[in-house]
Parts: sequence; C-alpha cells; structure tokens
Amino acid sequence: MDKVKWGVIGAGGIADRRTIPGLLLAGSAELVAVMEVDMAFAERLCAKHGAKRAYDSVDALLEDPEVDAVYIATPVFFHKEQAIKAARAKKHILLEKPVAMTSAEGLEVARVCREEGIQVSVGLMMRFHPYHQKMKEIVEGGRLGRIVSCRAQLTCWYPDIPGAWRQQRETSGGGALMDMGVHCIDLLQYITGNTAQKVTGLTGTKEFNYEVEDSSSILMELGNGAYATVDAFFNIPDAAARCRMEIYGTGGSMLAEGTISQVEGGTLEVVLSDTGAEYDAQQNRNEVFPMQVEAVFGNLYAREIESFSNAILHGDPVAVTIEEALQVQRVVEAAYEANAKGGFIWLHSN
Ligand SMILES: NC(=O)c1ccc[n+]([C@@H]2O[C@H](COP(=O)([O-])OP(=O)(O)OC[C@H]3O[C@@H](n4cnc5c(N)ncnc54)[C@H](O)[C@@H]3O)[C@@H](O)[C@H]2O)c1
Repeated sequence: MDKVKWGVIGAGGIADRRTIPGLLLAGSAELVAVMEVDMAFAERLCAKHGAKRAYDSVDALLEDPEVDAVYIATPVFFHKEQAIKAARAKKHILLEKPVAMTSAEGLEVARVCREEGIQVSVGLMMRFHPYHQKMKEIVEGGRLGRIVSCRAQLTCWYPDIPGAWRQQRETSGGGALMDMGVHCIDLLQYITGNTAQKVTGLTGTKEFNYEVEDSSSILMELGNGAYATVDAFFNIPDAAARCRMEIYGTGGSMLAEGTISQVEGGTLEVVLSDTGAEYDAQQNRNEVFPMQVEAVFGNLYAREIESFSNAILHGDPVAVTIEEALQVQRVVEAAYEANAKGGFIWLHSN
C-alpha cells in the first residue's frame, strides 16, 4: 500500500470546506468514498472532489473493501457510535474533535480501537501550524527559561440559529469551550509540554439565547507550575478577532497572532531577555525588541492527513493521540464542573 485510501463520513461540513481539499494535497492519501445523509448531496460531493463512490449510509461505506481509513466529521453526538462501528470494521480513524459527547464515551472509543488494533487520531490539527511547531521548539530549547504564564484565545461570531446542533447540549456536549477552546487547551499543553493539573473557569451564555455557553474563560495550573488561561467566545465579531497566543517565561516571551485558525498564516514575535537580569526599579518595558519569526505556510489539513496516513503506512508515531484529546476533554469537563460548583468570592457593593 503506497497511499491510504480514505472514506469520509459526514462529508458536507468542515470535510467539504477544509479537510477533503487538504486530503487531496497529501501525497500519502487518496480519496475513495464520501458519505452523507442525503444521496444527492453525497453524489454532488463525490463529483466535486473526484471521489470514486458516494454512499448515504455509514454501514455501506464501512463495507467498502477499498477503504482503509475513515475521517469522521459528523455532529459530535454521532462520534461514539460511528467511531466504534468503524473500528469494528477494522478501518483506521481520524475522528473530529471533540472525541465524543463526554470523555467517558471517548474512553470507550479508545478501548475499542485498541481491541481492534486500528490506528486512531483526533482532529486537533492546529498543532501542525509551522509557528506552533516553532514555538514548541523554542520552549524545548530552553530559550524562554521556565514558562510561568500563557494564554490562548479563539473566538467567532455565532448567533442563534434555530435547530443548530452546536447550540444544543444534547447534540454538541457543550458550547464555545467544547467546540473551540479544545484547540487552545491542546496548543498550550502541546507547546509547553505540560498538562493541566488544576482547572477553574467561568462559562456562560451572555449574548445569545442558546443553551450552551457563548462565553468561556478558564484558568489552569500546568504541571510545571505555570498559570495558563484559555478564552473561547462565540460572541465576538470575526472582524474583531485577534486569536492570540502568548507564552511568557523567565527568559523571554512569544506572541502569536492569527495563528489559531483553520488557515495557516498570522505572525510570531519572540522576545528574549537576559535571564540573569537584576531587578530594575524603573521597570523599563519600553526597550523590548521583538524578533519576527519567518515560516513557510501550507495547508494544516494536508499536514494532518499526511501525518496520520504515514502513521498508518509506515508505523510513524500518531501525532495527535486519542488519549491526548481525551485529556483535553477532561480539562473542559473540569472547567464546566468548576463553573457549576462556584467557589468564587462574590464582591457585594453596599
Ligand atoms: N478541526 C477543525 O478545523 C473543525 C472545524 C469545524 C468543525 N470541526 C468538527 O467537525 C465535526 C463536524 O462539524 P461541522 O462544522 O462540519 O458540522 P456541519 O453540521 O457543518 O457538518 C456535518 C455534516 O455531517 C452530516 N451528517 C449529519 N448527521 C450525519 C450522520 N448521522 N452520518 C453522516 N453524516 C451526517 C451533515 O449532513 C453535515 O453535512 C464536529 O465534530 C466539529 O467539532 C472541526
């Protein structure tokens, strides 16, 4: 096998917009089949992307002997059932984030994949951004000293849409934090090489009327003691979004802007200071000289598919494991629990 032959389950959303176009650029992958709930739609997508076959049932796609691996990009409440079916059919799986409605459901998916001996990965593709890889390298090289503080932000404008699965808890599992915050949590943990040990958070619906949160800010203490915050909001206009990531250490800092995105781009600035600096009573922060870091941009989804296809073909390590994605989901659940339990000190004005 020189290319992994892919089938796509739920081909009409992000798959159509981003992942299939990325797959078509990946040298180690070939698109064989697409599946959608409506046959006419499946056939249109099949023709558009040059697939060989269209299906309107998951079972029929899984019975296709030419399909080695499936990409599952359906609404979250279908993930567990479809991923387990695919694993039982011995197909390798790239499953969209979040893994499932809960981390407990996701653990079942992971268990069945292990039992069936198939490879599985999760769609946290922002790790593949060249600036995020560079940021990880810089942290690992020790040039920022000990990381003490970091922050990541992802926002969009997502008003009330009647019937939208993302806006109902029983079909999405959660709102802005579950949908977008997972990328931010994952990036901060991936880049710093540390996982959250303690989590608290505020999540709520402030602007719109749907039941999942449109606003979330969470605070984590990472394994090395650094404090990390994630902001995921559905109520900030796209034109006002900055999607920043900031990492501060005892030896310097990094600021990425516009990199937490579906499209490779943005900027990365690095500031390195003399770690042996004495206390400066003047606290002169005006003489900061950021270095712009260069990158060659490509396609995140092509990199994601290429990487996972190579894991299937050559036994390369899976770049985003289901265990890592489930740990991210447990952070989200911990933040929801912290918000529900309270534990805040209320300041009363009287
Ligand atoms: N990694 C990323 O960049 C990214 C971006 C967007 C969405 N996502 C994830 O992808 C998944 C889908 O999100 P979306 O925005 O594409 O949603 P969407 O609603 O736009 O598209 C989902 C598609 O699945 C189809 N579908 C619905 N029920 C199905 C079923 N039972 N079987 C097969 N297909 C079915 C729908 O017809 C639709 O075309 C979610 O898990 C989401 O979090 C990831």
